[in-house]
Order: sequence, then structure tokens, then C-alpha cells
Amino acid sequence: MNEWKPQQVAVIGTGYVGLGTAGLLAHLGHQVTGIDIDPNKIAQLQRGEVPIYEPGLDQLLADAGHNLRWTTDYENVIPHADVIFICVGTPPLPDGRPNLTYLEAAARSIAQNLNGKVQVIVNKSTVPIGTGDWVTRILEEHAVDYHMNRYFVVSNPEFLREGTALGDSLYPDRIVLGGHALAVERMRDLYAPLIHQTFEPLAYVARPREYTVPAVVETTLPSAEMIKYAANAFLALKISFANEVAGLCERVGANIDEVATGIGFDQRIGHRFLAAGAGWGGSCFGKDTSALISTGSEYGYDMPILRAAINVNQRQRGVVLEKLQKHARLLKGKRVAVLGMAFKPNTDDLRDAPAHDFIARLNQLGATVVAHDPIAMDRARREWGHLRYIEAPTALDALKGADALIIATEWAEYRSLDWNTAVQTMRRPLVIDARNVISEPLDVPATIEQIGKELPEKTPALEGTA
Ligand SMILES: NC(=O)c1ccc[n+]([C@@H]2O[C@H](COP(=O)([O-])OP(=O)(O)OC[C@H]3O[C@@H](n4cnc5c(N)ncnc54)[C@H](O)[C@@H]3O)[C@@H](O)[C@H]2O)c1
Repeated sequence: MNEWKPQQVAVIGTGYVGLGTAGLLAHLGHQVTGIDIDPNKIAQLQRGEVPIYEPGLDQLLADAGHNLRWTTDYENVIPHADVIFICVGTPPLPDGRPNLTYLEAAARSIAQNLNGKVQVIVNKSTVPIGTGDWVTRILEEHAVDYHMNRYFVVSNPEFLREGTALGDSLYPDRIVLGGHALAVERMRDLYAPLIHQTFEPLAYVARPREYTVPAVVETTLPSAEMIKYAANAFLALKISFANEVAGLCERVGANIDEVATGIGFDQRIGHRFLAAGAGWGGSCFGKDTSALISTGSEYGYDMPILRAAINVNQRQRGVVLEKLQKHARLLKGKRVAVLGMAFKPNTDDLRDAPAHDFIARLNQLGATVVAHDPIAMDRARREWGHLRYIEAPTALDALKGADALIIATEWAEYRSLDWNTAVQTMRRPLVIDARNVISEPLDVPATIEQIGKELPEKTPALEGTA
């Protein structure tokens, strides 16, 4: 390792990935400037407000604040940056390919401000295989003074999970670095405190037990880009597999939780990502599986396993609604509570959230929807203006007088709700527990549907016992 010294870093895009990256690098001791085209976001960050919800992120950005700046201005930042991270969104187009216009715009803005010295441009956004070379071309075409072999594009895909982003960033399983050897060497220097785990631990981010150091995977640009897609596709597949098996469990009287536990002890399989439920959502799995399939089709290569994973995921949302209709029948005029709006707990991210589809379908069927989420309701007010629902200030308020309930997100506070009391406030105690959060049979009469299992019957007290 060369003697470690802090570097000047620009992070372009201050969303979920950009903010985590900026916070991490500032904590490692680098001088970091976050750039975004959204002036409101930048104004918020300059005021010390964090525009997204991610546990611990506000504290990390405050603690590392002396190493952090925020701006909309490329001109004053890019010329001084040793390393420039691109963390802009790559949302899906209707045909499944990712929209690369934000990436292209960012690359052009970088190109116009390069300084003619060696600078490393890092793609952290999830981008189709071949995008690293495409970004290099954009830099070459739009740089004011073109210098061959001065601008090195590296692919360093991001594997953080929303909700546990800080732990994932400080204690990653692996760091993938794809690109020219010289640029990869620079990335190793940049990440040295992370690679060797010599940074100051944060009291509010738990270090995983038995964690040592991350693996560093050095590879080519296309392999690094492929690693990100293949990883997400595999995880999506695992969830769809669990849901497919869950459907059969329901038909044969098996219990998916116990089945998942049983197969998960096989170290080749593992326990994680085998939870049956309403299926995956969020900004990554749907987008990345579709992108991989469309890359395949560009090369005349079919990917039937991934197509099946997407179909099973789509079907799973329908399974939840079918369970509701099986018991509730006509939904017109009924009051249906929806608990959880974010696509998963501990985030306010609503992208591709199952709750969105549930509410949209309930709107179509003429039901009155009362929705609650511990964190995401503010964001939903801004992003789900096209849906009709009443906001409930608490989970219990959502349930009052409801004819049915769908549990769409497995927030911890829903797991720990006193369900015996809660269902008694409903007009009809019908619960579609699409995340299997209710773990004990209830003492009071209620119809509870879960995914891939049935709640066991309450064991009656033996005569003569208390
Ligand atoms: N969110 C995740 O959990 C996650 C995890 C791993 C990888 N990724 C990938 O990382 C990328 C970013 O995802 P995200 O969830 O952080 O997106 P996001 O939508 O939360 O943030 C993107 C940000 O980029 C900004 N932006 C757009 N164009 C810009 C430009 N030209 N210059 C400066 N800023 C610009 C937007 O204003 C926005 O603030 C995507 O490719 C995504 O697939 C996301």
C-alpha cells in the first residue's frame, strides 16, 4: 500500500447511494463534495437536513460534516477532484432497459470540467454491461482538452441495502473494482482504511460478528458491471423461489418458514433472502432483472430463469389480493387498511412498493383505503398523489372500523403490535398478513391469511389448568 493520504472526491447524485458514499468517504477522511442537479436537495443538505430516511445517515453526515460540502456546481468541484463518483439514478424505461440520460448528462458535465491531469471516474450507478466504455467515449468527446490515458473509468458497483446502508458500506462483504490497473490501484488507495478496516468505528453502526476485512475483487469493466446485475438477479431469484415454494406449501399443508429454515442450514443455500411474502419491490431488483434480460435479448440470448423470477414476483402481488377477495368478496364501499407503504422496512423508498399496487387495485374496486407507514407517509404524499387513500396517524388508527387489513411491509412496530387488541377494533377481523408478521395465534376470533403457512391453532388450556 502507498502511504495513505486523503483525496479530493466528488460524488455526483445525492440520492440513497450518493449520500451513503459521500458519508462513508468523508468518514474515512477524504474531502468530499456532493453534487446534485436538484437545488432543493442541495439546499436541504447545506442546512444539515437529510432528504431521505436511512437509519444513522443523519448522524454520519453531521459527524463527518467537516469533510463534506454540497453544491449544484460542477465547475468548482470537478477540476480539483482526484476521484469522481457517478451515483445518479438509472430508472427503468417502459421496455425494461435502464434510462441512461442522467448518466450521460453527468458524464458530459464531468467531461467539460476535467483538468487534464489523471482523474478517476467511478461508476457506482448500476449500468448495463459496456457502459464503462461508453462513458469513456463521452469523456473523450466532450472534454475541453482531450488527453489520451488521463481519464480512467472504473466500475465500483454498490451493494448497500436501504435500511442497513451504513453497516453495508462500513462492513461490506466485498469491494468490486473493474477497470485499468492504474485506476484500480488508485481506488485501493482511496478505500485503504475500509479495505484494512482501520477507520474509526461508529458507535451507532454495529460491526457484524466475526467480520474481518472485505474481499477485494479486481476485474475488468464488463465483469464488474456484470457482477452487480448477476448478484441482484440471483437475490431476486431466491425470493421468487421462496414465494413459489410457499404457494405449494399452502396447498399441501407445509409451513414455508420451517421449510426455509430447514433448507437454509445447508451452507450452499443459506438462510437469507428466503422469506416468503408479497414479493420483492424497490428500485433495484425489478429494474436490474429487466435490464439483464434486455441485454440478453440485444445479443439474441434468452434468459428464461430471470423471466420466470419476474413472473412469480408479479403473481405474488395478485396472490395477496386474491386472498383478500376470497374472504371479503365485494370490495366496493368496504374500508380496507393497508399497513406499510415503503417497499421494505427502515426506508422511506416507495419505488415499486407492493403497497402501491394494492392501493391502486383497491381504488379500482371502489374500496376506501386507510394507509399507515411509520416513515414513508410524507414521501407518499409527494409521490403517490395519483392514489386515493386516507392517512392514518398510527397503525391502530388505520385498523379502527376496517373491514379488512393488508400488512404490506414488515415494520418492527407491526410485529410487536398487540394483535389481540388491534383486530378487535376492526369492523370485521380479516387480516391478510402478506409479510407473515403475526407470529402467535390470537386469543380472539379473527381470519388471518399468511403466505405459505397457516397460523397454528391456539392450544386450548387443559381442563383443570389455569
Ligand atoms: N438505492 C439502492 O438501494 C441502490 C443500491 C445499489 C445500487 N443502486 C444504484 O445506484 C444508482 C443510484 O440509485 P439511488 O437509489 O441513489 O438513486 P436516487 O434516485 O435516490 O438518486 C439519484 C440522484 O441523482 C441526481 N441526479 C440526476 N442527474 C444528475 C446529474 N446530471 N448531475 C447530478 N445529479 C444528478 C438526482 O437528482 C438524485 O438526487 C442507480 O443506478 C441504482 O440502481 C441503488
